[in-house]
Amino acid sequence: MRIAILSSEAVPFAKTGGLADVAGALPKALARQGVDARLILPLHQQIDRSLLSAEVIEDVPVDWRGRVSPIRVFQSEAAGAPAYLIDAGFYFDKPSIYGYANDHERFAFFSRAALALLRKLDWQPDVIHGNDWPCGFAMSELRARRRHDEFFRNTKTVFSIHNLAYQGTFDPKDLWWLGFGDSPEKDDFMLKGAASALKAGLISADALSTVSRRYAEEIQTPEQGAGLDWLLRARRDSLVGITNGVDYELWNPETDPYIAANFSAEDLSGKRECQRDLLRRFALPEDLDRPIIAIISRLVSQKGYDLIRQLSNAILQTGSFFIALGAGAKEYADFLQSWHDQAPRQVGIYKGYAGEPLAHQIEAGADMFLMPSQYEPCGLNQMYSMRYGTVPIVRATGGLDDTVENFNAQYGTGTGFKFREYHAGALLDKIREALYFYSKPEIWQQIQLNGMAQDNSWDAAGKKYVGLYEQLVGEQSKINAVVS
Ligand code: ADP
Ligand code: GLC
Repeated sequence: MRIAILSSEAVPFAKTGGLADVAGALPKALARQGVDARLILPLHQQIDRSLLSAEVIEDVPVDWRGRVSPIRVFQSEAAGAPAYLIDAGFYFDKPSIYGYANDHERFAFFSRAALALLRKLDWQPDVIHGNDWPCGFAMSELRARRRHDEFFRNTKTVFSIHNLAYQGTFDPKDLWWLGFGDSPEKDDFMLKGAASALKAGLISADALSTVSRRYAEEIQTPEQGAGLDWLLRARRDSLVGITNGVDYELWNPETDPYIAANFSAEDLSGKRECQRDLLRRFALPEDLDRPIIAIISRLVSQKGYDLIRQLSNAILQTGSFFIALGAGAKEYADFLQSWHDQAPRQVGIYKGYAGEPLAHQIEAGADMFLMPSQYEPCGLNQMYSMRYGTVPIVRATGGLDDTVENFNAQYGTGTGFKFREYHAGALLDKIREALYFYSKPEIWQQIQLNGMAQDNSWDAAGKKYVGLYEQLVGEQSKINAVVS
């Protein structure tokens, strides 16, 4: 089976969040299942050119804005499966991956270039698997192309929702020069007077998936549907929730090259060294008897920073250290700065995107990891935390609810602490409960070991994706058999 995975970001090339972790790991996981999976992404400025192989595909003809623009495509094996990187400097040679007024144009171009590449390679995929709104264009275009383009006649599409709130909206007038204006698909983009690449993807893909079972249910409700719940309800028979896996080749305390000392469930002693190292990195006193609470996340309201802000004094009063790593909204960056200024010996911050090493060092050195998200399609850090013996404190939403089990003191079961209401008081109660059990080392170690024993590897998720692709391809071969 041939699967083309399209993504705007992927590890180890370019990353702003969990989508990159998933898009980097999925092709490898599929390859382990015997699938010929290939990744296609833009050649962003930030991509380390030493990851690219010498061979370049020249003159890929992209039909764009009324003429044919030939582009180059680089290749790489650095993701553990073949990857193709679309070199279009005009659109992608920029300091950030997103955040430009013409993002819709940039990713519409990416989608068109990806389809042009497949043709140039003469590699007919069974399924094109697009991720999030930047790939909505490809889903829509493929549906239109299948009608008259023999090459894509049998290609099916899967569209994965990693975050329904990012809808890729733009002025519908632009649909004309983006090349969607005179196809029947143009109405698929329309959402409350704007054009939305996400909505076009949701309508036109053959199958939809999202990144946890719980989120698949939540997005069908008006509360969590971000204005698209009606559409997801209408397509519920085509929607599955497949919980993301963890790439344990990259996130494993036994082998992690970034952390001060390796450790495992059999021997946790290295974690102390990681704690010391972490406190040092954030210029905090090396007091190993005080718990370290950490958060790593984009600074957006989704992640529950409003609750943390409300609790800033209460958290200081617990005597814990607090370490925060995040890039994003100025409002939350300013809050972190003022919190740090208020208690420089207790609160350590890094504002900005720090790359992989610091994220691993925090996971390894922290005692508790906070994810009080308003909503969370899957969330990866709670799963990384559990592997590193760092106990997650999460809100029971989306993938956090599916992957973290609340600790039950009576039976000694559970992997973390989970609260339900999006409310500062509920979060504080759980932080206090966690701190109470932290003060009982034997119980605490039990919670750590319960988390470390979880298997969230990609194998299970990989198999589910293969099942989904097979179902689509199977339907196609049934149709072919009837027609011929
Ligand atoms: P989301 O994709 O919504 O941001 P996830 O929990 O799925 O949330 O994934 C976040 C990923 O991005 C993790 O791998 C995390 O370590 C990483 N990350 C987030 N913010 C930063 C940052 N400022 N610096 C380095 N890594 C970060
Ligand atoms: C999105 C979601 C996050 C998820 C990630 C990977 O960024 O916000 O919850 O883990 O995608 O699927």
